[in-house]
Amino acid sequence: MVLGFMNQKIRIGMLGFGTVGTGTYRMLLDNREAINRKIGREIEISKIGIRDATKERALDQAHFTTDLNSIVTDPNIDIVVELIGGIDPAAELVEAALMHGKHVVTANKELIAKHGSRLVHLAKSKGLDLHYEAAVGGGIPLVQPLKHQLAGNEVIRMMGILNGTSNYILTKMEEEEADFADALAEAQAAGYAEADPTNDIEGIDTSYKISILASIAFGKQVPVEAIYREGISKIGITDIEYARSWGYKIKLVGVVDAVGNDAVSVRVHPSMIPNSHPLASVNGVYNALWLHGDFVGDVMFSGRGAGSDPTGSAVIGDLIDVGRNIVGGGSGSAIPYDMGMNVVPIDDIQSAFYLRLVVKDRPKTLGEISMVFGAHEISIAEMQMRTLPHDQGEIVFLTHRASEKAFADAIKQVRDLESVASVASSIRVEDKQ
Ligand SMILES: NC(=O)c1ccc[n+]([C@@H]2O[C@H](COP(=O)([O-])OP(=O)(O)OC[C@H]3O[C@@H](n4cnc5c(N)ncnc54)[C@H](OP(=O)(O)O)[C@@H]3O)[C@@H](O)[C@H]2O)c1
Repeated sequence: MVLGFMNQKIRIGMLGFGTVGTGTYRMLLDNREAINRKIGREIEISKIGIRDATKERALDQAHFTTDLNSIVTDPNIDIVVELIGGIDPAAELVEAALMHGKHVVTANKELIAKHGSRLVHLAKSKGLDLHYEAAVGGGIPLVQPLKHQLAGNEVIRMMGILNGTSNYILTKMEEEEADFADALAEAQAAGYAEADPTNDIEGIDTSYKISILASIAFGKQVPVEAIYREGISKIGITDIEYARSWGYKIKLVGVVDAVGNDAVSVRVHPSMIPNSHPLASVNGVYNALWLHGDFVGDVMFSGRGAGSDPTGSAVIGDLIDVGRNIVGGGSGSAIPYDMGMNVVPIDDIQSAFYLRLVVKDRPKTLGEISMVFGAHEISIAEMQMRTLPHDQGEIVFLTHRASEKAFADAIKQVRDLESVASVASSIRVEDKQ
């Protein structure tokens, strides 16, 4: 009798069978024996929910249903794996699965960034697991190390390259001297960017991921709408060349700084990263998270941050964790966090800046600009100038650290100067150690 119970299969209901769903399924098939052995019981995919019943699938149609509610309410299913994405209908389905006593594994960054606190509390209150390793960094273990191995540290700073599409584009621009539009077109042709790339290139995807990481590290949910966000679409090849000449790479980063008194600064923007920083050598579709903890010091995780197989690998890792908890008789790792992280406004932080101006080529221009900087207590660390056609010139500055507000005010005034044709770009700069 007892033996019979132990041999009972753990039944999985999958919602979604797209990029991540198929990778998850493939890994489950290829590594079935090892996975079952590690859990201590056999796992089986009972049903797979999809939207379009007419699509050709690698599996027999009998496995699929378009009635996803029938999966999340099925009394025979132990774990629901949500791989649909977005909020509607994923949020309702995940909630229903938990209400019906099912553990949940999800890869859905938007869902966790926006509803993580509520859903994890719900899971905990029902004695269930809710895991979401695949939601951040694809195949790179980030969520579990932050929840567990690094949990004793005060995280002082985190900085992550968390979007493969943007990193691929910036790397192409850097290596092939391609301009932004060509690099984006290449990313789309290679299947790394979607037809509408807004979420990736405007930093929205990164904001979900950095919100999740900051929420875990600091124990309170960081509202996505409180995250300052700037994308990469205004970065030009000229900026990449100047950055190179000063020993930097331009990367789209999610940054979290502890600001004391239970507050954090969380932001997403392009940054000039010194070549000596480990994040500077993270190229192409690779992702990485670098963090500094008070006891552990500097740590970096890197790997493939998206794609069918790496993301499937993270989903399976979570499934094994939940499976072990089921076999071991308890839930363990739904770690709740509350709402209400205090996020300081971007104006209150300090940064060094890169600034590229197109100016009218005439005397006194530099003096006028310097006066504005001086009035806002912004001091210049480096400068380069060159002549452009049509009586114009280009002046590029690297500043020392200054307040965001002072820099923004200075830019407004500089833009209004008669001698300045345009503010071509401004990028935050990470300190060289
Ligand atoms: N792709 C990656 O590399 C990656 C990496 C990390 C995390 N993620 C996350 O993983 C999740 C899945 O992403 P994906 O790239 O695998 O997406 P995808 O390829 O677009 O697949 C989505 C799947 O969900 C199904 N689906 C979508 N809307 C549905 C609805 N309203 N009702 C029923 N089924 C629906 C689709 O059904 P049909 O097959 O019938 O169209 C499809 O099977 C997302 O949360 C994403 O952010 C993805």
